[in-house]
Amino acid sequence: MHRLEVIPGIELDKELFGAASEGLATHAPEQPALTWDTFVDPARWWLVAGPDDDDAGVPIGYKAEFVVTQTLDLTIKVNIWYRPDLRSAETSKPHTHPWEVMEAHPVLGGYEDQHWHRSASGLLVQKGSVLNLPGSVNRIFARDYHEVTSIADPGRTVSVMVCGRWIHDEENKGIWGHLDLSTGCHVAVQRDPVEQERFRARMYRINPQHAAAA
Ligand SMILES: [Fe+2]
Repeated sequence: MHRLEVIPGIELDKELFGAASEGLATHAPEQPALTWDTFVDPARWWLVAGPDDDDAGVPIGYKAEFVVTQTLDLTIKVNIWYRPDLRSAETSKPHTHPWEVMEAHPVLGGYEDQHWHRSASGLLVQKGSVLNLPGSVNRIFARDYHEVTSIADPGRTVSVMVCGRWIHDEENKGIWGHLDLSTGCHVAVQRDPVEQERFRARMYRINPQHAAAA
């Protein structure tokens, strides 16, 4: 099958397009139909850097994101998965998301993730692992932690993400955090300027289609 490299690390073809466009038509029918030209537009994609670099010192992307729409009340993305989302090399670091609810609809391939839930009284409840396949929905609320631990078919595992109201602070930054598995405590995202700049630089390094802002 003809494959098109939109940026180094992101290759697209008609099967991936078909899964994405059908998934959007099913799960986000109010959005304009996805076209091939839009799907292969490099400016619509971000390769998201994981914690590791390759031997040449280039950050390794763990997923690719195509942003369909992003507002305060609704965020829709198409994700292609390449590697687990461990956030801290081989160390487990489950995270929350800055949305009241996030619904991930697998549309091609499959992935496994681990879930934890914070009860209303603050108790941590481990819910175990879930295999997410086309036809299922992975629904995660703001007090839930998860971690993607394995990808069935790297580069050919696609999900359509539909997220509700965005939860943010006064500085318009998304509110999320980690679960410290050794204590069971919530750890709010650290806004370390040095770390943020490092992440930003690594993102722009592997996303040449987005010119780095001065
Ligand atoms: Fe996540």
